[in-house]
Amino acid sequence: MLHAFVSLTLAATSFPLVASLATSLACCSANHTYPSVFGTEIISLTAVEVRNYSTAVETSGAVLAANLTGLNFCSINVTYTHPGWNDLITVTTWLPLTGWNGRFQGTGGGGWATGSDTQLVAPAVAAGYAAATTDGGHSNLLVHPDWALSSPGNVNYFLLQDFASVALSDMTVIGQALTESFYGRPAAHSYWNGCSTGGRQGLMLAQRYPELYDGILALAPAINWDSFIVAEYWAQHVMNRIAYYPPACELEAFTAAAIAACDDLDGVVDGIISDENACDMDPHSVIGQSFLCNGTVPMQLTAAGAEIALAAWTGPVDASGKKQWYGLNRDANLTAGLVATTASLNGTLTSAPFPIPTDWIKFFIEKDPLFNIANISDAEYFRILHESRNQYAGIINTADPT
Ligand SMILES: *[C@@H]1O[C@H](CO)[C@@H](O)[C@H](O)[C@H]1NC(C)=O
Ligand SMILES: *[C@@H]1O[C@H](CO)[C@@H](O)[C@H](O)[C@H]1NC(C)=O
Ligand SMILES: *[C@@H]1O[C@H](CO)[C@@H](O)[C@H](O)[C@H]1NC(C)=O
Ligand SMILES: *[C@@H]1O[C@H](CO)[C@@H](O)[C@H](O)[C@H]1NC(C)=O
Ligand SMILES: *[C@@H]1O[C@H](CO)[C@@H](O)[C@H](O)[C@H]1NC(C)=O
Ligand SMILES: *[C@@H]1O[C@H](CO)[C@@H](O)[C@H](O)[C@H]1NC(C)=O
Ligand SMILES: *[C@@H]1O[C@H](CO)[C@@H](O)[C@H](O)[C@H]1NC(C)=O
Ligand SMILES: *[C@@H]1O[C@H](CO)[C@@H](O)[C@H](O)[C@H]1NC(C)=O
Repeated sequence: MLHAFVSLTLAATSFPLVASLATSLACCSANHTYPSVFGTEIISLTAVEVRNYSTAVETSGAVLAANLTGLNFCSINVTYTHPGWNDLITVTTWLPLTGWNGRFQGTGGGGWATGSDTQLVAPAVAAGYAAATTDGGHSNLLVHPDWALSSPGNVNYFLLQDFASVALSDMTVIGQALTESFYGRPAAHSYWNGCSTGGRQGLMLAQRYPELYDGILALAPAINWDSFIVAEYWAQHVMNRIAYYPPACELEAFTAAAIAACDDLDGVVDGIISDENACDMDPHSVIGQSFLCNGTVPMQLTAAGAEIALAAWTGPVDASGKKQWYGLNRDANLTAGLVATTASLNGTLTSAPFPIPTDWIKFFIEKDPLFNIANISDAEYFRILHESRNQYAGIINTADPT
């Protein structure tokens, strides 16, 4: 634990004075002792006072797009390793120089990024929080987990554990310790803020480290990772199997037909299918129906397109007819992500899978970045789904609220 500034700050009675007194002295690397975190070895600590910082943040989860200006904070990087794991992780903590609201905010990542250096930390600091994030020991690319393999065929399980859970606990303990050392008293409350991967991280913290946070905002949490990530690839797999890559306008026409059939089942015609369970609209029933592609080009709904739409809606169904995971709601935008196609150079449409599932299958299941996912059989697809569950549920599923 850190005690360097406790005596200084305890001597003062008014908190804003404490903050300004402490910061001019405290935001200096030499003035911090290393936080003590069981299982880690701290390698370095650097503190830099940052004044008049500005940044543009994008909408992410509960954070709205904003141009933040005039932020003054102490920025502290702590690098550390888990001895024997051969990892090198950086935790970044930003501590407002004035106007600290007495609270700590841990912030999450997205996609394959364990954390984000500024996108969630800066708005938290602008709102008065002491806030922290972690790089999890790897690049913070949202797509392409270039850190996944130690060597071809061998998953870097330590970095995967860091990404899935361990680095989140470390970051919180380090960030809270620096907060206490800097202001001379611990944060009165700690909150988590994350979306998607960050939402899953929030639930992981609740499930595995429940003492660290008083409140957790876990938006769009990527839970049941082992199953839903592989299921996200199902419609693309079916496209490859039947060698039909539907234009976006055809998928939109299937979606429109489903909404027309099921919108009123919930009693309100609003373009939304709220009673999805009551909607069993079969896209084969509208094969041959005419529609205007892009509002101008007359086309007809195809049988192959119906098969793709149905695959997207039912989710993976195995050879015995057993549904292995969920599909998308029939009013979901199919072309926005999971059922996208793209034109190749010669104009022919081809598969445009969402990269997270293809990366998961290549790197973590096949352990081979060159694996040709476009050419797998149904049997291979379901073997992959089974291996995903068998090998990774306990590491990353984050679906154990008990
Ligand atoms: C902060 O660090 C400087 C340089 O190492 C040292 O002279 C000073 O006494 C330290 N202040 C506190 C409050 O620890
Ligand atoms: C912390 O690390 C980031 C990323 O490497 C760097 O941009 C920043 O300047 C570092 N800050 C401090 C205080 O060392
Ligand atoms: C703070 O930065 C803004 C630009 O974001 C600049 O216009 C302003 O002059 C700076 N203020 C100070 C005190 O440096
Ligand atoms: C941020 O500033 C840019 C450039 O001035 C502007 O285009 C954008 O609309 C601003 N964003 C917000 C959320 O205000
Ligand atoms: C419809 O619009 C998309 C996107 O602009 C375009 O790629 C596609 O060629 C268009 N299809 C037709 C049939 O005009
Ligand atoms: C679906 O998403 C795509 C890509 O974001 C967008 O271009 C399209 O307009 C959306 N379709 C509908 C019907 O909202
Ligand atoms: C168009 O390009 C794709 C991808 O390179 C290729 O698979 C396909 O055979 C080509 N089609 C034609 C008609 O040349
Ligand atoms: C798929 O596999 C078959 C048989 O192994 C092979 O002949 C074919 O070229 C492969 N197709 C692609 C797109 O890789």
